[in-house]
Amino acid sequence: MDAGTFLGQLLLLVGQSFWIMFPAYVSGSAAVLFKGKVPMDFGRSWRGRRLLGDGKTWEGFIMGGLTGVFAGSMQQLYCTYMNQPSFTAFDLLVVGTFDPAFFASMSLGALAVTACLSYGGLVGDLMKSFIKRRMGMERGTKSPLLMDQLDFVLGAWLVTIPLFPGWFFRVFGIFNFIIILVMAPLLHRAVNIVGYRLGAKKEPW
Ligand code: CTP
Ligand code: MG
Repeated sequence: MDAGTFLGQLLLLVGQSFWIMFPAYVSGSAAVLFKGKVPMDFGRSWRGRRLLGDGKTWEGFIMGGLTGVFAGSMQQLYCTYMNQPSFTAFDLLVVGTFDPAFFASMSLGALAVTACLSYGGLVGDLMKSFIKRRMGMERGTKSPLLMDQLDFVLGAWLVTIPLFPGWFFRVFGIFNFIIILVMAPLLHRAVNIVGYRLGAKKEPW
């Protein structure tokens, strides 16, 4: 493979990886914007520390997740109408498994996959906060081991793999995993710096 072909393949992989994970990136960024009030742990503590803390709210979870599902649905509609088969990632599974023609160009399966990625990312964020609280770290502190950067990716995978393994392993190849794990911290950093400058986020991480 010559250098030009290699670079082209790499760019395509980066683009596809970003496209597949997009609902999870959107739900996480949107949760911050909703600035909820009702903590998901309802203020409850366990062994003297908050279960999740005030940084995890029902409004952020529900509305952030819906925003991610909306983004994924827009991606799906774009693929259908623009006839972009190489990017119709969310519909692969559904062909032949369950597709009750929910909507002419949007299957129920595609919607379910999108919801898994979107809410899965937020579940990863909750797990991270749970672990931080158990480690005695206050809300908003920087976590060790890239936890703040990778929680979304790992959560989305953890929820989507058991529910849609067929779809998942058809869409994700080994290079997608690598690229997503490398790209997530960079994206996270970029989005957070912008959010921080715009005043939507208290800390730049
Ligand atoms: N947020 C929310 N609901 C969620 C997730 C996030 O309301 N489910 C909002 C909160 O206002 C939160 C902000 O987004 O403070 C930033 O999110 P994040 O960095 O994940 O939370 P932290 O405040 O840093 O708390 P933690 O230490 O638990 O990560
Ligand atoms: Mg934080």
